[in-house]
Amino acid sequence: ETVAWDPEDAEKSGYDHFMLKEINEQPTALRQCLRGRIDELDGTIDLDDIADLDHDGPIQFVACGTSYHAALFGAERLRTAGVQAHAYLASEYASERVPVDEGTLVVGVTQSGETADTLRALREAARAGATTLAVTNTVASSAARECDHALYIRAGPEIGVAATKTFASQQLALALLAFALSDGPTREELEALRDIPGQVQTILDTTDARAVAEAYADADAYFFIGRGYHYPVALEGALKMKEITYRHAEGFAAGELKHGPLALVTQNTPVFAIVTGNGETARKTIGNVKEVEARDAPIVAITDGESDVTRYADHVLEIPAVGDLGGSVLANVQLQLVAYWVANLLGRSIDKPRNLAKSVTVE
Ligand code: G6P
Repeated sequence: ETVAWDPEDAEKSGYDHFMLKEINEQPTALRQCLRGRIDELDGTIDLDDIADLDHDGPIQFVACGTSYHAALFGAERLRTAGVQAHAYLASEYASERVPVDEGTLVVGVTQSGETADTLRALREAARAGATTLAVTNTVASSAARECDHALYIRAGPEIGVAATKTFASQQLALALLAFALSDGPTREELEALRDIPGQVQTILDTTDARAVAEAYADADAYFFIGRGYHYPVALEGALKMKEITYRHAEGFAAGELKHGPLALVTQNTPVFAIVTGNGETARKTIGNVKEVEARDAPIVAITDGESDVTRYADHVLEIPAVGDLGGSVLANVQLQLVAYWVANLLGRSIDKPRNLAKSVTVE
């Protein structure tokens, strides 16, 4: 007797989709990203790959899609440390005529290392004399070979077209890079980085994302709001939702909601709000949550429970309390899972969404 055996199913190791497998691989991917890069005794970060990169000056990021959201996150971390840093969409970089010279470090964030728009931007920057760095998952990719330096995110191969574990690994690698290029981390910050993989596992073990997806699978649209580190995650939450559910989804900086998007909010447009801690940032986002609550929109809070945002929420997706930086990595995992389960309920082609490619090699 023979048993039908599908090599692709075998590679999914029991998961229905590569996307869900890769979401669940995040603790491992993140541990791999950190391995050997944190010196607990000295309290320092050691990035062997870029040991000979010594940069003191402005930093520009160029990237596309999900990698652009990671770049926004990395730039925010650098600015927090007082470094002039900005993330550009690679496809706009050249036409924006961004001032760049020998004193600039240009960082291309690209999972595949083969995205045409990103390679083009890096080449333009190199022509202007900038130092270039590829932050990539792919050893010997075009970006890794062409740039002056390469930092590997070590997420392992990603099959699903929608980037999941590679985004988390980019966030972590860029946090490490930001610390390496500015003031090193405090003990607390170092421990927080080290603890992220375990906390992602906690979320995977306890998430209510499926129930949230079931509650809102018929929504007209999905909106995501966040401030600071959570703004790129709001964008990424919406992108994931668009890519695999084909539903309308938008991410907004929480403060921008009242400048237009609020007109779209109805009782059939759930708003996902990312709120961590109980400081000024959290309080302001909660103010925006109240604005949508007054328009009867369902609210899903992705929160560590430190603030009273849960009072206004119809659903809560909990994350451990680790501060804004780590919190944004954790919040994103919940949003990945919501998108996955909505797409699953709608019967979408999750691993190979229509019209999309894993790597886009045309401009
Ligand atoms: C494609 C993929 C996206 C990805 C983007 C950038 O559009 O579908 O998931 O974020 O390219 O890819 P990269 O390999 O440069 O990170």
